[in-house]
Amino acid sequence: MRTLGRLRRLKTTLVPEFHSWCKLQAPNAAGKQLPRIYVTRRIPPDGMKILSQSGLCNIEQWDSDEPVPRSELLEKVAGIRGLYCLLTEKIDAEVLDAAGPSLQVVSTMSVGYDHVSLEELKKRGIRLGYTPDVLTEAVAELTVALLLATSRRLLEAVDEAKNGGWGTWKPLWMCGYGLTDSTVGILGLGRIGAAVMARLKPFGVKRFLYADTGPRPDMATKIPAEFVPLEELARHSDFIVVCCALTPETQGICGNRLFSLMKDTAIFINTSRGGVVNQEDLYQALVNGQIAAAGLDVTEPEPLPTDHPLLKLKNCVILPHIASATVATRNAMAALAASNLLAGLQGKAMGKEVPL
Ligand SMILES: NC(=O)c1ccc[n+]([C@@H]2O[C@H](COP(=O)([O-])OP(=O)(O)OC[C@H]3O[C@@H](n4cnc5c(N)ncnc54)[C@H](O)[C@@H]3O)[C@@H](O)[C@H]2O)c1
Repeated sequence: MRTLGRLRRLKTTLVPEFHSWCKLQAPNAAGKQLPRIYVTRRIPPDGMKILSQSGLCNIEQWDSDEPVPRSELLEKVAGIRGLYCLLTEKIDAEVLDAAGPSLQVVSTMSVGYDHVSLEELKKRGIRLGYTPDVLTEAVAELTVALLLATSRRLLEAVDEAKNGGWGTWKPLWMCGYGLTDSTVGILGLGRIGAAVMARLKPFGVKRFLYADTGPRPDMATKIPAEFVPLEELARHSDFIVVCCALTPETQGICGNRLFSLMKDTAIFINTSRGGVVNQEDLYQALVNGQIAAAGLDVTEPEPLPTDHPLLKLKNCVILPHIASATVATRNAMAALAASNLLAGLQGKAMGKEVPL
């Protein structure tokens, strides 16, 4: 069965460039063996084209839209020089040991790198490429869409229209909360946080607050935002938008303490990583009316089991991690990750590299 599945995967490639991959298995014109790289998924064509046309590497790929099984990953990385991965692969000591001392570069097709053990890479002198900037606009756009869908109860309203809940026009039926004259608090004013602010400003937001590891005047100049402690952000915000990286410090940072300080009319939005939220605490806050509603693009785990209690709540909108999902953005991410990998293989400066 397993062999059949593999054959099917090899036959049903969606990436035309995959065929040139086979040619790259041979030594190059000078008869030199090219460095081997492993690509952990079928990736958007712009990325595959860069890799396959470079003539710089022998590509092996998990040619599927589903994640590579861990056992397969551990087997395939042995002796590779470069690893092209996605956020679904945990790149830890086990994978790096399985790869062995030949591994020079890991390139992830994501801006978040919480799935990669930086400490283990550093110990081994392995470089890490990632994909900031190219996804900022798409993620900010989706964050605003999710905020509006949550605060103006769009999914609930669509359900009512479809399922006969739409009776006569009633003054307070389906009322939500608007952005005009509101205070918006951004947790983590990085690239995406600032891009979210820029998009929300024209909606008439009165005041922007942000909490971060320290003041970020570089990010809070075009649109003024006040640096405040997280507690103050919680107390004063009508909308909290989480845009920080997932780190040991931000793991579970949005929990009971934060929700209990928030206004009972406040809206909570998270498009960063599921791990920043304590989901049991969020559930309680939503059920007990501590906060008005939540919109999540990311959860822990992913996918969230379909019987998860949060999915049963009307005041919780959950999306399946689609913030960067535009065709152009995913191609740009794939291309940047490919260029980063090739630069790393050649010992050159990467377009975007995580300093270790
Ligand atoms: N939902 C998605 O599909 C999607 C897509 C892209 C990015 N993301 C997530 O968004 C995150 C942000 O991306 P970015 O490009 O804006 O990164 P960024 O590095 O520009 O911004 C992250 C911000 O978080 C802040 N931060 C770090 N630790 C903090 C702490 N302890 N408390 C408060 N703030 C803290 C940083 O100082 C920085 O300002 C990524 O790390 C990723 O996890 C999600």
